Amino acid sequence: MKIGILTGGGDAPGLNSVIYGVVRTALSRFPGCQLFGYKFGYRGMYRNEFRELTRENTSGILHRGGTIIYSSNKDNLFDYPIEENGVIVNKDVSHVAIENFHKEGMDVLVVLGGDGTLSSALNFHQKGINVVGVPKTIDNDLAATAATFGFNTAVNIVVENLGRLHTTAESHHRVIVVEVMGRDAGWIALHSGIAGSADIILLPEMPYSLEKVVEKINERESQGKMFTIVVIAESAKEQGGQKVVGRVVADSPDPIRYGGVAAKFAADLEPLIKNEVRSVNLGHIQRGGEPSAYDRLLSLRYAAKAVDLIEQKKFGHMVALWKGQMGSVPLEEVFSGGNKVVQADDELIKMAKGLGISFGV
Ligand code: F6P
Repeated sequence: MKIGILTGGGDAPGLNSVIYGVVRTALSRFPGCQLFGYKFGYRGMYRNEFRELTRENTSGILHRGGTIIYSSNKDNLFDYPIEENGVIVNKDVSHVAIENFHKEGMDVLVVLGGDGTLSSALNFHQKGINVVGVPKTIDNDLAATAATFGFNTAVNIVVENLGRLHTTAESHHRVIVVEVMGRDAGWIALHSGIAGSADIILLPEMPYSLEKVVEKINERESQGKMFTIVVIAESAKEQGGQKVVGRVVADSPDPIRYGGVAAKFAADLEPLIKNEVRSVNLGHIQRGGEPSAYDRLLSLRYAAKAVDLIEQKKFGHMVALWKGQMGSVPLEEVFSGGNKVVQADDELIKMAKGLGISFGV
């Protein structure tokens, strides 16, 4: 048996742990099988660029961040920019990847990715490729699984940095605004903000009022707390306002990249209060470095389940975690409910309010 593996979309700590788990488990479960890593996700399938993954060359990657087979969040082969007569046109080139796949005698494709990557996985499955999906994203916004690897590590990184920012904010009696990732979901902001003792958490799901934020800062001051930590999700916006776009990546299927909301928010806030305001964007630091122990275990569990699905020939499914148990869901169902975002009645929101945390509403 020949198993291809690819990692697509933004990287997340735990990708290498899944690769490690799939390679080790498959080699012991299916004697004589071979595994191959496509380079830069689907682009590797299109260009037929891959390398064999062996017990030897995957040794020591369980705890390493990033992905040893590289990733891309641009290469949707069903809508791929190619040059034709000197002009760039978007075409469906998936047949090239499928031909390459069959030519190399590949039997199964294990796809590690978030919603964009997995929706292509569904398209390839519908075109006859034996696909197994593994959910990845630091944003934790896939509705079909309780947890994606990378999220726990990202939250831990933010919490560690909030600890550092607390001491400097306190020393200078400043407001420090910390921007975190998460795309259109506020999970990283919510979890890290609570665990990192933020005073104000601003989520994309709950547009904020500057007035309410000022109220909270003044309330703290009246209690003798001369500094404030604000965690702001990258796509949070003011009531009646717009999300802050950091850049547009024209050749990406999802071209909008958020970024810069903390700086904008700090500039809006400073004239309204006595304290100085500083902003920090933690950016890609949240995706870098070693996965947490939780994410390593989650990744290894996903990898083991992915190999189970291969053994059972249960293709077109994504491995998923529900109520603490490993299971799987058909790829079609992964997209039926939309993305998982924070609901106003989430238990964590209620708990945080009870602690005195403001959501700026
Ligand atoms: O989806 C993961 C993520 O890190 C988001 O939180 C963020 O909005 C986006 O990717 C950043 O993308 P890029 O790596 O292209 O800047």
